[in-house]
Amino acid sequence: MRVVAVDARPPAVTPPGVAWIGTDDQLPRLLAESDFVVVAVPLLPATRNMIGVKELSLMKSDAVLINIARGPIVDEVPFWAALQGEKIGGAVLDVWWNDFSWFQNGTWPSTYNFSSLPNFG
Ligand SMILES: *[C@@H]1O[C@H](CO)[C@@H](O)[C@H](O)[C@H]1NC(C)=O
Ligand SMILES: *[C@@H]1O[C@H](CO)[C@@H](O)[C@H](O)[C@H]1NC(C)=O
Repeated sequence: MRVVAVDARPPAVTPPGVAWIGTDDQLPRLLAESDFVVVAVPLLPATRNMIGVKELSLMKSDAVLINIARGPIVDEVPFWAALQGEKIGGAVLDVWWNDFSWFQNGTWPSTYNFSSLPNFG
């Protein structure tokens, strides 16, 4: 597997097993190259909706987005549109836009029913 990454403060030396690691401004390159995109950043004002219309459009049409960070880092509306319109291959979510509603009262934690999509897990 070829691994690439971006980080706000990339290490001076590329870690073993990593093809390249760049700064955040190389996110478009990462998105265009990757078959699987794993989101693992903290939720900050600068990372909220970090994966939006532009970023989703840069992904390969068969690429899979995996969010293990926080729900609001991915912009919910264009993400739903990209999945429903099969602009990307699929998605796996470990987090939601409103995690609390699910755990507190069983209310579905998104505006959309992602479970109805065949390319969602
Ligand atoms: C469920 O909990 C969420 C988060 O606290 C809240 O926003 C929502 O209004 C609650 N819904 C109901 C039906 O109680
Ligand atoms: C979401 O979609 C799934 C699969 O089609 C369905 O079983 C479920 O009832 C739907 N949930 C809502 C809230 O519509």
